[in-house]
Amino acid sequence: MSTASQQIKIISVQNYQEMSSVAAQLVLYAIKTKPTTVLGLATGSTPIGLYEHLINDYKQHQTSFEQVKTFNLDEYIGLAADHPKSYSLFMREMLFNHINIKAENTHIPSGVAASPAEECNHYETLIQQAGGIDLQILGIGTNGHIGFNEPGTPFSSRTHVTRLAEKTIEANARFFTAIDEVPTHSITTGIETILSSKKIILIANGKDKAPALQAVIEGDITEEMPASALRGHPDVTIIADMEALSLLKKY
Ligand code: PGA
Repeated sequence: MSTASQQIKIISVQNYQEMSSVAAQLVLYAIKTKPTTVLGLATGSTPIGLYEHLINDYKQHQTSFEQVKTFNLDEYIGLAADHPKSYSLFMREMLFNHINIKAENTHIPSGVAASPAEECNHYETLIQQAGGIDLQILGIGTNGHIGFNEPGTPFSSRTHVTRLAEKTIEANARFFTAIDEVPTHSITTGIETILSSKKIILIANGKDKAPALQAVIEGDITEEMPASALRGHPDVTIIADMEALSLLKKY
């Protein structure tokens, strides 16, 4: 089932599996239509099923990623690319090692650059040199963050160093052995970087995401709810299960 909310298209699905499958179909359609697609990719629990679908499709149908370029949203400051909890390693283990993408076409900010500010500028330049992001995949934090753009981040932000919100540190502690191991800062593409993508797909599942989705779709457009910035973009699709959509009033 699908309906329009402002400009955002909502695809309501039964569960995580269906969310992952529908999102994968859209990604694969983009790659088949344009083999040089530039993808914006996300980490976290939500996109893992999507990546599994892409890997399975690659094994079954050999859809080629040879010319695809990717740019991930973010990386923790202080974690090198081979750190077990880095998003760089996450992406290699969850997707890149299992498809025919070229390593040099995959991009993730360095968490250990000597100058994080220069790394941010460099990352923006790389995205622009690639022609911009064709299709950006997003998850959403329970506080409405996209990438690590926490509440209060200016909508005009480009790639920058950010301090993680306490809620994000608590949420991400499940990936670490102790909460004090969660890095406190990251490099993230900014809200304006995300909004510069030609097409955006946000995936969300579970009741924990319901308050944020309700606020994003039906609340005020405000920097206190970073994902509400998506309402200013002409081509956003939210693929969410019924639990995540359960608090929508007009749905
Ligand atoms: P999650 O994180 O996919 O692990 O729920 C989403 C996010 O914080 O953006």
